[in-house]
Amino acid sequence: MASSSLLSLSATFSRLHFVTKLSFPLALRSVGRPVRRDRRRALLSSSSSRWSPPSGPNSGSLVSCGGAARAGGDDLVVLGIETSCDDTAAAVVRGDGKILSQVVSSQADLLVLYGGVAPKMAEAAHAEAIDPVVEKALSEANLTARDLSAVAVTIGPGLSLCLRVGVRKARNIAGLFSKPIVGVHHMEAHALVARLVQQDLQFPFLALLISGGHNLLILAQSLGQYVQLGTTIDDAIGEAYDKTAKWLGLDMRRSGGPAIEQLALEGDAESVKFSTPMKQHKDCNFSYAGLKTQVRLAIESRKINAQIPLSSATTQDRSERADIAASFQRVAVLHLEERCERAIDWAMEMEPSLKYLVVSGGVASNKYVRSRLDQVVKRKSLELVCPPASLCTDNGVMIAWTGIEHFRMGRFDPPPPAEEPDDAMYDLRPRWPLGEEHVKGRSEARSLRTARIHPSLTSIIQESLQKQS
Ligand code: KG4
Ligand code: ZN
Repeated sequence: MASSSLLSLSATFSRLHFVTKLSFPLALRSVGRPVRRDRRRALLSSSSSRWSPPSGPNSGSLVSCGGAARAGGDDLVVLGIETSCDDTAAAVVRGDGKILSQVVSSQADLLVLYGGVAPKMAEAAHAEAIDPVVEKALSEANLTARDLSAVAVTIGPGLSLCLRVGVRKARNIAGLFSKPIVGVHHMEAHALVARLVQQDLQFPFLALLISGGHNLLILAQSLGQYVQLGTTIDDAIGEAYDKTAKWLGLDMRRSGGPAIEQLALEGDAESVKFSTPMKQHKDCNFSYAGLKTQVRLAIESRKINAQIPLSSATTQDRSERADIAASFQRVAVLHLEERCERAIDWAMEMEPSLKYLVVSGGVASNKYVRSRLDQVVKRKSLELVCPPASLCTDNGVMIAWTGIEHFRMGRFDPPPPAEEPDDAMYDLRPRWPLGEEHVKGRSEARSLRTARIHPSLTSIIQESLQKQS
């Protein structure tokens, strides 16, 4: 069980304004509700038949969840809850993009202890943090749950045990206060938060989503319609940063990425000759497992002892570690640059009006990553859109905002029953692709680890659109 000292609550309050232009209507997507148990299904349907859309200034324009709904923007207020990995996060966001509160409780101490995310421990830490995090988000927004228009929550991809904690909390609030609920795709949220920070970011846009578990290049054609141009065939770049930091004995309390970024500033990025992954594959997929091995071998051959913290290392030892950090970072990011260049060409063939490359996810908070990718987009006459660091790493704002975008289109579930048993089974989607693979992006090297379990978000939406027409 995590101790209360693990709760390092940090809150930021920002003022961002944005009015979204909608591109086309979407139908209801049914998400996050309990599955498999007949009794619960009965409870859900009896509650939904009694429920009517939330009242308020927009209620006249909000069609019930059975059809495509339209709600104006500015007086929507949505609570977003995120627990898919190691951060417990909640935020309240208004329909015009104003962030009313943002709270993140990180499991940094657990990361240091276990050297990565241990699902059982992470679940326990989420369970301990979730109530205070949500309460703090509401109180900092000067609201109660009664004032919300809807509750949005991550339902995948991520660790089932962790997702479950957030979904239970979201359903609990939505049930008690009779609020609609929106199930959110974590990676879609990383991409869409860019539309909160940049007012003129319209579809289509290209997005590179780089985090601890994902490396995705997607063409976002409209809300919910994504073409996957590339993904990783093994590890994601964030995982490679984290392992490199661990093997170099760096301070992991803010995760490995920031520690490598900082140490790399002291090193010579040309000093260790790592080879760039997948040079021979002329596609947009990624691989970081081989680079990780190269780094491990380089560390072993220099006899660097990770047990000796950087602060106690000799000058010579410190400079060797810095050289490895800088050389790793150069090649890891070069791999991103090469894939992005090709992805821009592919995307331009499909969408000649393309203007933007969005870069988001935890690794996008890295300044070196941003500056290198900025040069790529400039060469291609595009514009880089990178959310601020606090919105790149996992956060509740991106979940609330994605909830707002889909809620406006009528894609939400009616309130769950006021009381659900603790052992309710939820429709969680630990492996859930965002889009359909681009024909050129299919990878024969794709390992079984990426085998899909749920149909992609895009295919679910397309199916419901076809049923409507
Ligand atoms: O998106 P995120 O917060 O959580 C996941 O969905 O995985 O990303 C976390 C990842 C970690 O691997 C972390 O080391 C990496 O993002 N990261 C960074 C930086 N900040 C966070 N990587 C490189 N440089 C950074 N400054
Ligand atoms: Zn993430």
